[in-house]
Amino acid sequence: MTGQLRIMAINGSPRKNGSTAKLLEAFLKGASEMGAETEMVNLYELEFTGCRECYLCKIKNGKRYGECAYRDGLTDVIAKVRDCDGFAFGAPIFLGDFAAQGKSFLERLFFPYTSYEGGDFSLNKNPKPTALFAAMNVKEDFLNEFYRGQLGNTEAWFKRIMLKDPYTLYSTDTYQFSDYSRYDAGLWNEPEKRAWRDEHFPIDLQKAEEIGKKVCEDASKKE
Ligand SMILES: Cc1cc2nc3c(=O)[nH]c(=O)nc-3n(C[C@H](O)[C@H](O)[C@H](O)COP(=O)(O)O)c2cc1C
Repeated sequence: MTGQLRIMAINGSPRKNGSTAKLLEAFLKGASEMGAETEMVNLYELEFTGCRECYLCKIKNGKRYGECAYRDGLTDVIAKVRDCDGFAFGAPIFLGDFAAQGKSFLERLFFPYTSYEGGDFSLNKNPKPTALFAAMNVKEDFLNEFYRGQLGNTEAWFKRIMLKDPYTLYSTDTYQFSDYSRYDAGLWNEPEKRAWRDEHFPIDLQKAEEIGKKVCEDASKKE
């Protein structure tokens, strides 16, 4: 691998300063410390939809075979992600899964790469190291009991298409509001959440930074 690595982070949270964004910023910081050129994309700034089922990506000998032919606010981002050397995708957990906006992005990115021909499942000629981040309100034991299966499905798609397991970091028990007293939030114990955030979130940020470095190391080893 020669030249400067291009590493991207795709933020699937509506909040540009929320927990997901902070994890992704730490990831990019790690990558930047390794000398990579980095870019953050905030999906909620873009106008796009999930897969439209045009199936142009599957037409035999089609001009758009293996590519997403639908044009909207995601088109340039998909092109950059296909081209870059490694990327992280992060989203908050909404209703027990990665938030829908981000799943729409993954449909558009991953489905054109999937082969219906038989044989190799992934048409991806440029597989790359990836990372998968999530932020959620629930504690780790709840994540393990109820969310792992669902999140494992997305992890499996990363592996199918990028041919390697993504690095994963799931940040639990996040601090959702800047001022809990303003919200109907009796379900959560604010002092406990604050203490958890103060102690554990910096550790998650450190881990995210390390993942940014590992993604660069893996990308440098390619070819
Ligand atoms: C629509 C919606 C649904 C949510 N559903 C869940 C859920 O099922 N489980 C959970 O742990 N947290 C849930 N949350 C909380 C967020 O996942 C949590 O606050 C997360 O840390 C937000 O990340 P952010 O700061 O990056 O936006 C939900 C929040 C919203 C707005």
